[in-house]
Parts: sequence; structure tokens; C-alpha cells
Amino acid sequence: MTNIDPQIELWNGNSGERWVRYRDETDLAFGVLSASAMVRLNAQTGERVIDVGCGAGTTLLEIAKAVGPAGHVVGIDACDKLARCAQLRTAHIPQVQVLCGDATQVELPPSYDALFSRFGMMFFASPITAFRNLRNGLRPGGRLVFTVWQAANKNGWHADLMSVVLPHVSETPAPSPPRAPGTFAMSERLYLEEILSASGFRDTLIEDVREPVQMGSGGVAAAVEFALHVGPAASLTEKQTPETQQAIRAGLTEFFSGVACGENISLPGAAWLVSAVA
Ligand SMILES: C[S@@+](CC[C@H](N)C(=O)[O-])C[C@H]1O[C@@H](n2cnc3c(N)ncnc32)[C@H](O)[C@@H]1O
Repeated sequence: MTNIDPQIELWNGNSGERWVRYRDETDLAFGVLSASAMVRLNAQTGERVIDVGCGAGTTLLEIAKAVGPAGHVVGIDACDKLARCAQLRTAHIPQVQVLCGDATQVELPPSYDALFSRFGMMFFASPITAFRNLRNGLRPGGRLVFTVWQAANKNGWHADLMSVVLPHVSETPAPSPPRAPGTFAMSERLYLEEILSASGFRDTLIEDVREPVQMGSGGVAAAVEFALHVGPAASLTEKQTPETQQAIRAGLTEFFSGVACGENISLPGAAWLVSAVA
């Protein structure tokens, strides 16, 4: 696959590899938000559903169960390793297909009932082109349901961790321009409305969902490992010297010890749960 899109290149580098390795922890982190999105999707027996940026495939498994053998689910992911992981995890389910490619360019017949994504829609270089293209896969009246993150400062799993990491870093990274492709690209409600309207969707509903994001599978050590391997704090830490990485690890251990509630460690999360009709 030729990757010229910088976000796709990133996902095909360390990020994708880590998301494969920490997929169970990522599922735990998204757990409550994910459940709200699945309720809103409300996939029915026999339906045909597209899952954009399907990652390691957990949402494919959930949707496949809901639509059953009479239905069909196609997952699309631009990261070779994550698409391969999703293929392996769903190989025994005949109603699932996984495509490795850019959702901006994938060609789908206009036969799908629903288009779903759990945090996979924020990375497009040209969001309107991507949304228009994906809308082509929906039948008239087909529904769109996806989650994106709200602003970084409303998400403790980002802001709190950055406040631990940044004091150790000699060069503070320049803030991303608003709306730039990446984790927080679609944090502005107005921007979401603009994209959906320009790509032909109607009856848009944008719900404010605030839910805790679980950090790791339990305990301080697991939370530190997760923070050091998945997410923006991890990407920044990996660029540091081994000494600085040690200092960040110690800082994270102290931070998580302070917020731990027994074995459970969660940080505030704020997402938009977006739905619309084709
Ligand atoms: C934040 S992860 C979410 C993964 C998965 N939906 C989940 O909830 O575990 C974003 C995913 O979008 C994929 N992605 C990024 N840009 C993409 C594009 N242009 N086309 C298809 N997938 C893309 C990444 O490879 C990654 O798997």
C-alpha cells in the first residue's frame, strides 16, 4: 500500500503496532462510550453495516453478533497491522469482511443500512471528501453513527497525562491547528455540522457524552504501561531520552497513585456521539 497521507503513515508506524498489542486495554478505555454508541447504532438482524477505522476489530465482532449470519459487516482500516488483526479475529464469522485501505477512497455499493465508527473518523486529510465517499455506501435513509473526542482540555486522559509528561520534555510540541487531522480534529460541534451538511447528511444529532476512560486493566502499574504505549502522551514520551522516559514513568506512577480508586483508575472523557441520516 502506498501511504502519502501523514495520518495513514502514522497509523502504519508505531501507533498501529501498539494498538494491536494494547487492544484489550483500549477496549476497556472506550468501554462505556462504546456501549452508548452501540445503543445509538441499534444494529438489527439482517442489516448491512460499515465500520470505519475498525482497528483491531472489537466493534466488528459486536456488530456481527447483532446483525447475525443474515447480515453483513464490512470493516475498513488504513493500517495494515490493525486490519490484519481484525481479519484474524473475525475470520470465523462469515458475515464479516475486512478491507485494508483509506476510507476516503474505498468504493462501496450503495446498499448499506448503517455507517458506524468508534473514534475512526478524525484522521481524514479531506473530511468532506471522505464523508461524501462513505455516504455513497449507504442506501437512502441509511444511518450514520460515530464518536469523536471533544476538546483535549475536556479529556483528562489527554490533559492530565500531558500535564505530567510536559514538564519533563525539553521541547514542548507546537499545538495542532484547530481542525487539523488527528485525535481532536472534530472537537468543534460547528465543524461537525459543517462536514455533515456539506457531505449530504440530514437530521444531525450531536450528543454530549461524558464518561470515565479506564486506564489499564487494573492497578497503577497497568495504568502506567497503558499511558506509556497508547495515546498522545505515549507518542511524546517515545521521542525522549531513556533518562527522561524514566522520569516520566515515575511521574505517571505518582499521578496514578493519587487518583486510583482501589484497582480502578479512570480519567474524565468527553466525546460527541454523532448521528445523522443519508
Ligand atoms: C483511534 S483508532 C480507533 C480504532 C477502533 N475504531 C477502535 O475503537 O478500537 C483510529 C483508527 O482509524 C484508522 N484510520 C485512520 N485513518 C484512516 C483512513 N483514512 N481510512 C481508514 N481508516 C483510518 C486507524 O488505522 C485506526 O485503526
